[in-house]
Amino acid sequence: MAKSQSVFVCQSCGAVHARWQGRCEACGAWNTIVEEAQESPQSVSPSARARGKGPGLAFQALDGVAQAPPRLATGIGEFDRVCGGGLVEASAILVGGDPGIGKSTLLLQAVAGAATRGIKSVYVSGEEAIAQIQDRARRMGIEKAPVQLAAETRLETILEALKHEKPQLAIIDSIQTVWTDTLTAAPGTVAQVRACAHELVRHAKKAGTAIILVGHVTKDGQIAGPRVVEHLVDAVLQFEGERGHHFRILRGLKNRFGPTDEIGVFEMGDAGLREVTNPSQLFLDNRGHARPGSVVFAGIEGTRPVLVEIQALASPTAFGAPRRAVVGWDTTRLAMILAVLETRCGLAFGGRDVYLNVAGGLKISEPAADLAVAAALVSALFDQALPEDCVVFGEIALSGDVRPVSRADARLKEAEKLGFTQAFLPRAASSNTTATTSSQGRRLVAGQSGVKHRVIATAADLVTTITGQEYPETP
Ligand code: TYD
Ligand code: MG
Repeated sequence: MAKSQSVFVCQSCGAVHARWQGRCEACGAWNTIVEEAQESPQSVSPSARARGKGPGLAFQALDGVAQAPPRLATGIGEFDRVCGGGLVEASAILVGGDPGIGKSTLLLQAVAGAATRGIKSVYVSGEEAIAQIQDRARRMGIEKAPVQLAAETRLETILEALKHEKPQLAIIDSIQTVWTDTLTAAPGTVAQVRACAHELVRHAKKAGTAIILVGHVTKDGQIAGPRVVEHLVDAVLQFEGERGHHFRILRGLKNRFGPTDEIGVFEMGDAGLREVTNPSQLFLDNRGHARPGSVVFAGIEGTRPVLVEIQALASPTAFGAPRRAVVGWDTTRLAMILAVLETRCGLAFGGRDVYLNVAGGLKISEPAADLAVAAALVSALFDQALPEDCVVFGEIALSGDVRPVSRADARLKEAEKLGFTQAFLPRAASSNTTATTSSQGRRLVAGQSGVKHRVIATAADLVTTITGQEYPETP
């Protein structure tokens, strides 16, 4: 039998090394490797061996009669929707986010909402004292909700309490503060977080409780250390937002019981988080007259269409290599769009610093934003504003062709709802229009929604549409 010895575990990715080193070979992080005592493998007991002999496993057909799992609704619509229509019994959810972003606030509101609706709920905090939480609840006006509070970090004590109380919903805030006696590693290390999360998830499955674990996020955006926890839980939700902005986005990254990429939008105020049911209005807030470099993108976030403003600036480079700075979009994708505009349309961005910003702090990952970004760049370069009442969407291929994107109708409907009257969009997206387009696709045609379609077939087509010239000289 192997004798018990030390192993060296990377606190960032969980990779195990035989000896200490300055840099983790698995994830490339520096100074993240910590020595941990290795537990000797448990020898298999004779009874377990005996159990392994018979047919202990009964197989089932795929089309069983299992019903949809019952849902525990917290009454906070945006939260329930991201969960896929409420929390599921006997499931575990990880809610991640930067420190101070509002995770505790959100979950306190959710647990209060659930308790008010008759769901037996407990809230275990390892970070704040009871008085602090009570004070916050009072400020948010939810102190009357029948939530059971506790401040505890020892896993065994928490599990005992959960077994005794048998709640339907339990919040553990946060998983990084919980520690178990059975390990010598310090709280917050990968070994502790993994072991505690594993035990809590097991309890959730066994007792039928819905457990929400709160997790902190490291600088590089990963849920601290334990990527391993992401595999253990049924759903991973990310709570994000920009510091300077008052609104927050809850994003589904993984969900075994519902759609992923769903977002819930909240606004942080004096009395906690307020749901934002019409995010487009929020992201387009304070948008004045149409300005060069500003374009409204009709996007889809999860199941919902959302309109966001994309802003670009192309200023002459003062010295050295031109800068490319991006907020809310992918830097590589920007480089790609610039390359297409330079190669396929003959534009020159070489002497320009390019800045791209998604207004309001939203992060966009859809390729459908390509055309809107290109439009913002061209508009900024030529100092030509797009029409004020116009939305843009479409994916751009390296060939310069504009490709159709999913759910064009939903995007157009949202645009119409908010008073937009025309759209720059790819060809196929307007196949259900009542009139055909000219060969260049530049004529306005009326679609089924009240929004006029302006079909953009290629990147060069976009440049011509914005500048009014076939092959304009870069100013
Ligand atoms: P918190 O929920 O403690 O963050 P986390 O648990 O993610 O670390 O949120 C703390 C921040 O939220 C803090 O900076 C203050 C702000 N806040 C408000 O602006 N209004 C409120 O009503 C509450 C409760 C918090
Ligand atoms: Mg907190």
